[in-house]
Amino acid sequence: MQASTPAAVPQHVAIIMDGNRRWASQRGLPRAVGHASGARRVRQIVEACSARGVSHLTLFAFSTENWQRPADEVTSLMGLLVHYLQKEISNMHTTGVRLKIVGDLSRFDQRLQNLMASGQALTAHNSKITLTIAANYGGRWDMMQAVKTWQAANPVLSVASMDEAALRPHLSMAYAPDPDLLIRTGGESRISNFLLWQMAYTELFFTDKLWPDFSAAVLDEALQWYSARDRRFGASSALAAR
Ligand code: IPE
Ligand code: IPE
Ligand code: MG
Repeated sequence: MQASTPAAVPQHVAIIMDGNRRWASQRGLPRAVGHASGARRVRQIVEACSARGVSHLTLFAFSTENWQRPADEVTSLMGLLVHYLQKEISNMHTTGVRLKIVGDLSRFDQRLQNLMASGQALTAHNSKITLTIAANYGGRWDMMQAVKTWQAANPVLSVASMDEAALRPHLSMAYAPDPDLLIRTGGESRISNFLLWQMAYTELFFTDKLWPDFSAAVLDEALQWYSARDRRFGASSALAAR
């Protein structure tokens, strides 16, 4: 019999939405068209996760390393973020989505920062699903900012008081459980500086599908795969313990 956990639906799904440029180049289209097509996938995936009972969905939209891309590409990605938020925030609100944005937002222009703040404020009390967008986010940045804010809040921090539980509230996703399932599209099997601390025990699902081709059917494939995982967390198998 195949090992399977009874808790079949992951509470928290995180996605590295990768492959937009390859999708465009396969079609002889500009990179910006690939990114725009990718952005159009998001609404359906949020809705599908919500309908399946996932309570937290976290999407990697822009990494701390993505600033190294050509200036015109960075500009088009920023424009898309603005466009996506302008277009989706009211729909999020009516469908019970709570929007959160994590990352070093100080590098974004004021208009984008205002939009992010107003979207989060508007949807703050929604409870169907929490959608977190990671923008100018890096796992290493997150750990560093957590250490800094922890230290600032406790200037005389002693080594003896340092433990994982005390650091955790300062991480930028302290409001969410750790991801149960990570999906990375685009064929690469790496984490690319996403949620490093939080993914210690996350199940990792890699698919060759490029993000603009991602669909609810591929999401279901990942959820199906997840439901058959035996999550041991370093202990004994749930089945062996029976
Ligand atoms: C993901 O697609 C979007 C971002 C990283 C912003 P890519 O732009 O990385 O596309 P590929 O992986 O080069 O095809
Ligand atoms: C990861 O994709 C970042 C996002 C999807 C936002 P990248 O395309 O930047 O990652 P690498 O360069 O392939 O590792
Ligand atoms: Mg990529």
